[in-house]
Amino acid sequence: MSTGSGQRKTDHYVGTLVGESTSREFRLAVARETIREQDLIAVDAEMRRPQENAPVEEKSLPFEEKSLPVEKIRVWAKVQRIERINPLFPAEAGHELAATHTDPFDTVLSLSREMVTAVCQVLGAEPLDGSTGGKLDHLRYPPQPASSAYRPGSEDIARVLLGDLQHRQRRALDIATLSNRAEVDVKVDGHSIVTRHLAILAMTGAGKSWTARRIIEQMAEKNYPIVIFDPHGDYTGLAEVESLKKRVRRYYARFPVFEQVPETVIAMVESLGWQLANTHRSLFEDLFQGAKTLITAAPDELRARTEWISRYLGNEKIARYGLKPDLFLLAHFT
Ligand SMILES: Nc1ncnc2c1ncn2[C@@H]1O[C@H](COP(=O)(O)OP(=O)(O)O)[C@@H](O)[C@H]1O
Ligand SMILES: [Mg+2]
Repeated sequence: MSTGSGQRKTDHYVGTLVGESTSREFRLAVARETIREQDLIAVDAEMRRPQENAPVEEKSLPFEEKSLPVEKIRVWAKVQRIERINPLFPAEAGHELAATHTDPFDTVLSLSREMVTAVCQVLGAEPLDGSTGGKLDHLRYPPQPASSAYRPGSEDIARVLLGDLQHRQRRALDIATLSNRAEVDVKVDGHSIVTRHLAILAMTGAGKSWTARRIIEQMAEKNYPIVIFDPHGDYTGLAEVESLKKRVRRYYARFPVFEQVPETVIAMVESLGWQLANTHRSLFEDLFQGAKTLITAAPDELRARTEWISRYLGNEKIARYGLKPDLFLLAHFT
């Protein structure tokens, strides 16, 4: 397990704490384009650990003079946003240029001086030696201004991200890699998913179905039993995945078409997005009755009719799977 040694820190230095820091947020002076939004960074700090059972006379001492044990911690944070400002190009100068339609390059103004600040959200803190297995505690005191921030190693990130799960391969579902650190695998606990609830919420096109499919594949690989209710057929493709081929069984809901009155079936067909013309509608009842008569034959007779209709339509699947009292029969018959 790695520790935040000096070597690591200088190797992976990203910036220096500036301005006001709080236990929830701090700001980093960074070099241009060395850091991106959502990056994970760390700052090492030393905290005095208050002692519950300290002698009374010591409790009354000023804080700095107490002989409190010093704890070395690593503060974890995520880059929330990045701000750029050129202090030598004040807003007033910009307004002047705009008012006079002047290109800044035609002036003596400095355009290259920039201050880039990364605003970082504190995620929590852990002992520097990582001895709590990646579990982050609340940070109760802000990190020190002028501290150096660094990019933690992949192992450290994995420890914080996965915790126990790192050592529980049998229940760890491998679902992704970290967006800014492709070498770090993101896993979720299969047991947590099956014993609790999981919702995947995002905008259309954000990747919900994709994520769900990945979770399902991973759960299948770890032999979790799975039942999928799939009204839109989003997951039928799972049966074609090589590793799942022999293990997926598909069940189809069957709408008992011929137990309904023709009007109901017309309404259903139209709700599927197929507007019937008046001629269709007037002929529908006859078709409906015809198809119903076709399907309610004695088994031998039904087999003969099935083969005939299969041949007539040049559709061998009808003969192979047989006729079923469903909308497909109605369509074939039509
Ligand atoms: N993790 C991913 N990696 C690469 N492409 C992805 C990923 N997740 C989603 N996509 C792409 O985005 C598209 C939309 O994803 P999808 O899961 O269908 O979104 P949603 O269900 O949220 O509407 C997919 O067709 C795929 O091309
Ligand atoms: Mg979807």
